[in-house]
Amino acid sequence: MLSVSGARLHARIAALARFGALPGGGVTRMCWSPAHEDARAWLLGELKTAGLAPWMDAAGNVFGGLGMTAIDARRPAVLTGSHIDTVPEGGILDGALGVLAGLECLQTIAEAGAAPARPLAVVAWSDEEGRYGSLFGSRAFCGRLDASAIPAMAAVDGERLVDAMQRAGFDAHRAPEARAPAGSVAAYVELHIEQGARLEESGVPIGVVDTIVGVRRARVVFLGQADHAGTTPMDRRRDAFLAAADYALKARELVVTRGGARAVTNFGVVHVHPGASNIVPGRAELVHEMRDPDPEVLERLARDCATLAEDVARSRAIGVEIRPMSATLPAPCAPRVQAAIEAACGDLGLGWQRLYSAAGHDAQNLATITDAGMLFVPSRGGRSHRVDEASDAAAIERGANVLLHTLLRLAA
Ligand code: GLV
Ligand code: MN
Ligand code: MN
Repeated sequence: MLSVSGARLHARIAALARFGALPGGGVTRMCWSPAHEDARAWLLGELKTAGLAPWMDAAGNVFGGLGMTAIDARRPAVLTGSHIDTVPEGGILDGALGVLAGLECLQTIAEAGAAPARPLAVVAWSDEEGRYGSLFGSRAFCGRLDASAIPAMAAVDGERLVDAMQRAGFDAHRAPEARAPAGSVAAYVELHIEQGARLEESGVPIGVVDTIVGVRRARVVFLGQADHAGTTPMDRRRDAFLAAADYALKARELVVTRGGARAVTNFGVVHVHPGASNIVPGRAELVHEMRDPDPEVLERLARDCATLAEDVARSRAIGVEIRPMSATLPAPCAPRVQAAIEAACGDLGLGWQRLYSAAGHDAQNLATITDAGMLFVPSRGGRSHRVDEASDAAAIERGANVLLHTLLRLAA
């Protein structure tokens, strides 16, 4: 039975990990950054070496085709892939695994001289981690990028997407041109690390994803009054940070008690202005993220949190503004793709279990244009979005072989 080269896959994972490598392990490789652009150039070279046809689209998505040189509705393709950008101080597998395993599968198929009925391509989607806006590259590819929003798209540190892309040699305004023609993608399947501990704890080697969580992000800005931090009596302060802190604690409670069993929430970005130890904060900005696999629950939580923010602000005599940043749709994975993954596990004698994905993925955009699905391999200790993210070498190889046989089935 056809199988991937584990040694070649691991060598490429190690090679990609050098771009943006941090001294203590892990990587910082945000999309469009010099480290990311160096990784992109390396990837284009690897695709070529592997005998695939490399190309890029207007959103910066990188493709490697087998039996195809462009997305073409006359010959619908089976796509696989993930992303090569990372979060700040991220791990070496989140995204990288799906891209490099996809590359390895296509190289294996090409070298075996197998001729699947459908063309295949591996893709590295731009800015999956959403520094400038969530799931950017796949959003453009799936026709979900609003051109009028592009000038305002920016990272939380204020860097604009148009500037970041320009530095990397891309024109952000042209990104919507990456939209795939209707009917050009026959199926999409993505291999990823689980980023949680369920597979490891149950001792099951492969997770077959049935649903991908929806993620909503909003900027919550509390507007108080900057004042002298020594001379202003405590009872006369209108401290924006304390309002933000009060809101964060109460919103966490609200999501835990009123959300579904899988609802989670996070405050990963906090800015206080003017930001000096001797000034009462006049403005505090939080980026508030919440997740739930049920779109109605998510909608209700967002409404309840908006009311909560207003109540907290009113009780402290300060203002509040809520600026929605992004909202991805929870996505069901296609039964046809789940069945193909499960059949591939059967071919290889591997156990599997269905699970939902608590992380966001490009597959949720692909699910709006084609049959899309995902498979997971166990993450050591469930660790991810941290520098010590890891999966066992054998687990990675097993996942790549399941991906290989899933692709062969989908492309048959
Ligand atoms: C993607 O990594 C996410 O934030 O879920
Ligand atoms: Mn991630
Ligand atoms: Mn990822």
